[in-house]
Amino acid sequence: MKKIIALLLVAVLAASSALVLASCGGNSDTGSGDTKTELHMATNAFFEPYEYYEGKKVVGIDAEIADAICKKLGCKLVIDDMEFDSIITAVSSGKADFGMAGMTVTDERKKAVDFTDSYTTATQVIIVPEEGNKVNNGDDLAKASVGVQLGTTGDIYVSDIKGASVERFSKGADAVLALTKGKVDAVVIDNEPAKAFVEQNDGIKILDEPFEKEDYAICLKKGSDLTAKINKALKELKEDGTIKKIVDKYIGD
Ligand code: ARG
Repeated sequence: MKKIIALLLVAVLAASSALVLASCGGNSDTGSGDTKTELHMATNAFFEPYEYYEGKKVVGIDAEIADAICKKLGCKLVIDDMEFDSIITAVSSGKADFGMAGMTVTDERKKAVDFTDSYTTATQVIIVPEEGNKVNNGDDLAKASVGVQLGTTGDIYVSDIKGASVERFSKGADAVLALTKGKVDAVVIDNEPAKAFVEQNDGIKILDEPFEKEDYAICLKKGSDLTAKINKALKELKEDGTIKKIVDKYIGD
């Protein structure tokens, strides 16, 4: 009798933990045994206002949207900060459950990962010194040295310009530092982080040059069931105004 009860108990426990796992939908192998109710988000947390450190905590639009999604899925959000150009590998290898990093949907990336629906849009912009700038428009990039963050759409864009010399940095902030020291003529980076950099550094400005619109989305391992669940959560968060509220909190106009 005792044996039967014990067996039953084990069965119930196993079933309930499987349920928790299923409801959370995580598939990252964190090696932490039974703590499968976590969802690991791969990001590069030097990209204000999307993800950046406030003390030891990663805050920002992406961090808050991810948190709201995880709450809906009944999971705990864990943020794994890494180099931007490591995110896709972390996600496609299953080391992280999803990647969210102000990441633009591109056809090239779609070969390696799946993307959710877009949650916001952005554009690239050019940052130059406020005075004595060699670059006055997009065409001038062709004869300039241009700082970018490694592996970003800014990098891809400038790398395609014949004559431009591309200086790749692991962080956008390092590219901006090089600009303020006169080591590069311009920096090409996403519009909102550019605004944050211009606010934080004297003597630089954003050129009024229109670039193509980019869609930011969350990337997942190809074929992941989590994509549909996140899309559902995103749809609800768009409809109830949560996404707009989070974006407005960080981007005042
Ligand atoms: N939107 C650009 C891209 O997808 C830049 C993203 C950089 N993000 C970051 N967290 N550093 O390539």
